[in-house]
Amino acid sequence: MRTVQVSLGDRSYEICIGPKLLDQLGSACARLQLGQRCAIISDANVAPLYAEAVGLSLTKSGFKPFLITVPAGETAKSLKSVQACYDQLAHRRLERKSFVVALGGGVVGDLAGFVAATYLRGIPFVQVPTTLLAHVDSSVGGKVGVNLKAGKNLVGAFYQPRLVMADLEVFRTLPGREYRAGLAEVIKYGIIYDAALFQRLERDMPKLLKRDPQTLAKVVARCCEIKAEVVGQDETECGLRAILNFGHTIGHALEAISGYGTYLHGEAISIGQVAAARLSAHLLGFSEGEVRRITTLFRGAKLPTKVKLDSRQLAKLLAAMQLDKKVSAGEVKFVLARKIGQVEFGRQVPMHLIETVLKPGH
Ligand code: NAD
Ligand code: GLY
Repeated sequence: MRTVQVSLGDRSYEICIGPKLLDQLGSACARLQLGQRCAIISDANVAPLYAEAVGLSLTKSGFKPFLITVPAGETAKSLKSVQACYDQLAHRRLERKSFVVALGGGVVGDLAGFVAATYLRGIPFVQVPTTLLAHVDSSVGGKVGVNLKAGKNLVGAFYQPRLVMADLEVFRTLPGREYRAGLAEVIKYGIIYDAALFQRLERDMPKLLKRDPQTLAKVVARCCEIKAEVVGQDETECGLRAILNFGHTIGHALEAISGYGTYLHGEAISIGQVAAARLSAHLLGFSEGEVRRITTLFRGAKLPTKVKLDSRQLAKLLAAMQLDKKVSAGEVKFVLARKIGQVEFGRQVPMHLIETVLKPGH
């Protein structure tokens, strides 16, 4: 097992990465001196696969878990689900020291984390991620929340988990498309922070696509280290943490205009990252050779790198970008790359250039 420390003073915690960690969840929770009662929040796909093992592990260590199952998919990240979870926590009389276990992908992690952040003004929670995206991104760093009709993640909090148990064997059941979408976040870490990781991904992508356990262990750990370093310096996204949004401005807008569900998040930010690389070539002297390396790596991960938009859709995309949470004083801010492994945040980009890089044949 590998461990990565997230250093945030009295809110510090460990990310444990390795095989068969679900069995060790109970003993790891016991070390955190949590109360006996706990709610496992999971979704309708994940619960039948892993809730029993998680429950057993907790029970063996003296905890009294019960299961709350929400529907699978983005629609579960709603205030309606939050309310349903609160009702069950109250019914089971969870107390201040009781805790929540988020067992699932980013949807469950964000929802369960928000429930834990707000129930009784905050009870502890533990992340047990089950998608690649959740292993390398959403389970770490404490962004929790739900969606409103008006947009994604509009209600939320920064609330750190007490522990992340990232079992690598859960990938065995993860559908291929979901797994590949997680690779888009993995590649992102290479572009924004670590040229050596990017090179390793260029070399090892075939092994990663085969879900090779050794390669995955190293790569997931490195991504978690990077996220921990960034969050450790800027927990609440006052500055540096924005680099984690590379490719997300265009990606989020694409998700919004195509109706959530057409593109998985990882697919949309794959297109967004290639577009951001092209913008970087126009504005920061990022080399064409590096744009090609980035495009080739996303293609190698079997992810989309471009999108066909007619002029009406393009206008909608540009309008959707103005609604992004990260817009400040009406200005859309981008993360752009100077070279692979080094990016800058808060860069303004003229709208006509965004049109240019999204046009077919660019
Ligand atoms: P998800 O949670 O919807 O999971 C994807 C699908 O895979 C679901 O149908 C789920 O039931 C299924 N699944 C999960 N694990 C499985 C397994 N091991 N075996 C079989 N099926 C499994 O999607 P996701 O991509 O993990 O997360 C996306 C969400 O994460 C979005 O809501 C996004 O906003 C959020 N997110 C949050 C952060 C953050 O920092 N908090 C970062 C990135 C993304
Ligand atoms: N996924 C972006 C962040 O955690 O800040």
